[in-house]
Amino acid sequence: MSYEEIMLRAIQKAERFKHTAKPNPVVGAILLKNNEIISEGYHEKFGDNHAEINAMLNAEKFKGEKFNSFSELTLFCTLEPCSHEGKTQSCAKAIAKSGIKNIVIGAVDPNPKVSGKGIEILKKNNLNISIGVHQDLVKKQNKYFFYKHENNRPYVLVKIASSNDGKSHYNSNHRTYITSEKSRQDVQILRASFDAILTGGNTLRNDNPQMNARVDFDVNQPEKILLTNKQFSKESQFFDNSRVRVITSSNLIEIIDSFSSDDICSIFVEAGPKLVNSFLKSKIVDELIIYTSQKNLGKDSVPWFKEDNAIENYGFKLESSCKIENDLKQIFIRHE
Ligand SMILES: NC(=O)c1ccc[n+]([C@@H]2O[C@H](COP(=O)([O-])OP(=O)(O)OC[C@H]3O[C@@H](n4cnc5c(N)ncnc54)[C@H](OP(=O)(O)O)[C@@H]3O)[C@@H](O)[C@H]2O)c1
Repeated sequence: MSYEEIMLRAIQKAERFKHTAKPNPVVGAILLKNNEIISEGYHEKFGDNHAEINAMLNAEKFKGEKFNSFSELTLFCTLEPCSHEGKTQSCAKAIAKSGIKNIVIGAVDPNPKVSGKGIEILKKNNLNISIGVHQDLVKKQNKYFFYKHENNRPYVLVKIASSNDGKSHYNSNHRTYITSEKSRQDVQILRASFDAILTGGNTLRNDNPQMNARVDFDVNQPEKILLTNKQFSKESQFFDNSRVRVITSSNLIEIIDSFSSDDICSIFVEAGPKLVNSFLKSKIVDELIIYTSQKNLGKDSVPWFKEDNAIENYGFKLESSCKIENDLKQIFIRHE
C-alpha cells in the first residue's frame, strides 16, 4: 500500500465523525508495519481522545503479537499532531514518548497558535517526518476549520426560505411555513454540520423556534447565538439542548470577529429580513442559500429584499441550484 492509499483511508474513515467531532477538525490516524495495518484511530467526539492517541491505544492490543515495539511502526496522521495540553494531552509528546520513529502527516494545523509546533516536538525527538500527503483533501474535509484559522473569523452562511413572490413571512406575529417538509429536512442536515446557529430577537419572539439539528444521526449540537437588545422569554424552547449566547451589540463585524479565539469555526444564520439584510450589507457572509417555494404569500407579507438584483448587488454569484420536490434550492457564493 502506498502512503497515498493509507492516508486516503484515514481521511475517508474519519468522515464518519464529522458531526460529532466539530467544532474540532475531523482527524484520522493509522499505524502501519511494513504493509500491514496494525491499528486505526479517529477523533470521534468533541472533547474525547484525539485520533493518534486512539490509534496507539488500539495498537497496544497487538503488542507482542503483530509487533514488539512502536519503533517498528509508521504513523499516518491526516492532520499535524497537536502540541498543546488542553482537554487532552499533547499528541506530539505522546507519539514521541511511544518510540514511534516515522510519521506521515496530511496537512499542517492551520491554527497559528499550534501550527508547526507539533512538528517541532517530533523533530526534536528525531522522528522522520513526511508532510503534505493528500493535504488538499484534508483541507477540503475540514473546510470551516481551515477557513477560520486562515481568516481569523468563522465561515458565515445565511439561509433563507422565500415564497415565489420573494416574501419571508406574513405580516403577523405568527410563524409562516413556506417550503416543503423535504426542504426543511435538508435544512436540518445543514444545521448539523455547523458549529453555531445565529438568529435575531424578532424571530425568537414571533416563531419560538428550536433551532437545533433534528436529524437521525449523532451530532454535537450547534451552539445558539441570539442577537437582541430587548426582552425575551427564557422559557422558549430555543434555550433547550445547547449552550446559548445572548449578544446585545448590533455591530455584526465586531460580533463575528469576536469568535476569532473561540472554538466556533462556522455560523449558520437563520433570521428574518432585518438581520439577514444587515448581514449581507456588512460583507461578512461567505455563502447564501435560498429555498424558494412555488407558494405566493401576497401583499400582506414582508419581502426579503427591497429591490431587484439585491443578491447580486450584495456581491453574490449563483454557484449551483437543484430542485427539492417543488422547491428550488440555490447556493450563492460571495465573489467580492
Ligand atoms: N422565511 C425564513 O427563512 C425566515 C427565517 C427566520 C425568520 N423568519 C421570519 O422573520 C420574522 C422576523 O424578521 P425581522 O426582520 O423582523 O427580524 P429578525 O431579522 O429575525 O431580527 C431582527 C432583530 O435582530 C436584532 N439585531 C441585532 N443586530 C442587528 C442588526 N445589525 N441588524 C438587524 N437586526 C439586528 C434586533 O433584535 P432586538 O430588536 O430584539 O434588539 C432586531 O430587531 C419572523 O417573524 C420570522 O417568521 C423567516
